[in-house]
Amino acid sequence: MEKLICTVLLLLAPPVVVAACSSNHVPAIFVFGDSIFDAGNNHFNKNCTAQADFPPYGSSFFHRPTGRFTNGRTVVDFISQFIGIDLQKPYMEVHLEFLNGTRKQYPTNGINFASAGSGVLQGTNKLWGVTPIQEQLQQFQALVGQKHVDKNLIQKSLFFFESGSNDIYNYFLPFDSPTLDPDAYVQAMLTEVGSVIDLVYKLGARQIAVFSLGPIGCVPARALIPGAPIERCFGRMNVMVKKYNKRLEILVNDIPVRYPGAIGVYGAVYEAVQHFLQTPARYGFVNVTNACCGDGTLGGLVQCGQDGYKICSNPNEFLFWDYFHPTEQTYKLISKALWGGKKPRIRPVNLKSLVNLTISHV
Ligand SMILES: *[C@@H]1O[C@H](CO)[C@@H](O)[C@H](O)[C@H]1NC(C)=O
Ligand SMILES: *[C@@H]1O[C@H](CO)[C@@H](O)[C@H](O)[C@H]1NC(C)=O
Ligand SMILES: *[C@@H]1O[C@H](CO)[C@@H](O)[C@H](O)[C@H]1NC(C)=O
Ligand SMILES: *[C@@H]1O[C@H](CO)[C@@H](O)[C@H](O)[C@H]1NC(C)=O
Repeated sequence: MEKLICTVLLLLAPPVVVAACSSNHVPAIFVFGDSIFDAGNNHFNKNCTAQADFPPYGSSFFHRPTGRFTNGRTVVDFISQFIGIDLQKPYMEVHLEFLNGTRKQYPTNGINFASAGSGVLQGTNKLWGVTPIQEQLQQFQALVGQKHVDKNLIQKSLFFFESGSNDIYNYFLPFDSPTLDPDAYVQAMLTEVGSVIDLVYKLGARQIAVFSLGPIGCVPARALIPGAPIERCFGRMNVMVKKYNKRLEILVNDIPVRYPGAIGVYGAVYEAVQHFLQTPARYGFVNVTNACCGDGTLGGLVQCGQDGYKICSNPNEFLFWDYFHPTEQTYKLISKALWGGKKPRIRPVNLKSLVNLTISHV
């Protein structure tokens, strides 16, 4: 029999008390979001044009393209390894296998629903055929409804959310100027995030990890935006990101208040990356401005793997792998901060502590 060690945690200033018993660890992660998390959903979605399923994506770890938008593992992959569970497969892959009969049941280590290019606003990059976060939730909801995912498993699982970078980046594209001012746009985004959290709780999720957006204004792809500065980060974009992150954290803090029995943790990815940018050498980075793989200004004008791209010889010394995305090395450092970090990185508890908690009502 498993030894049950129970402690009572005071998670927040308001009297939100959760009895936490360490028992069997988290068996699964369900993942929702964009290219930061996509493990190949777009690759298996033949209708989608946002792809990273060609070399040299994946070259540093998987030694083949998997559809991940980096040279190796993503943050979800690292966290899965820290927990000791297999990496989650893309929903599109396991769903197709289930439909064509090569798979009899859905995985028990979680499923990755994330779709590169998608946002929290339904219309973001719709023309690329991406799967918006609302549709990702519907895919999960359908599996739950059809009893392909066990309710008990859901309750013990982690739920990971990261989305919004594409919405904010697109806000600054010149094609169709947005009708909303930055404040209202961010508010519209958070309304969607609120609905997502609401639905996932109703479907049984109790351990919800939400990650802030990184400093998108610093990505090499800012070179594609007319008028954006090259020699420094795009300040107006980062101001909007910070506004979003700040209100996102308030939303996360509200999770245990609004949803009995649920824990929400907020991962401050922005601050982690900000430290890499400010003191690169401390983290082993030599180049925190240019994409390791790409071409043109900042390596940000050509997608890695496309005609004319160049690749650096030492990806581990670069913060950015391609025009939008961090290297595996950057993801590894972020993952370590989220796993074992202190409150400036992840709060109210880190993922290592979270996976050791099985929540029960008191
Ligand atoms: C079933 O679907 C999977 C995923 O698309 C594919 O890899 C596999 O070849 C398919 N198998 C058959 C027998 O069609
Ligand atoms: C494919 O993508 C187009 C947009 O490019 C969309 O209108 C259409 O509904 C999509 N088809 C499927 C089957 O998802
Ligand atoms: C970063 O890498 C790019 C391309 O390899 C190079 O042009 C640039 O000078 C590098 N910057 C630093 C600070 O090393
Ligand atoms: C989880 O808790 C158990 C019992 O307190 C402890 O032995 C174990 O090291 C913890 N695991 C992690 C990942 O913190």
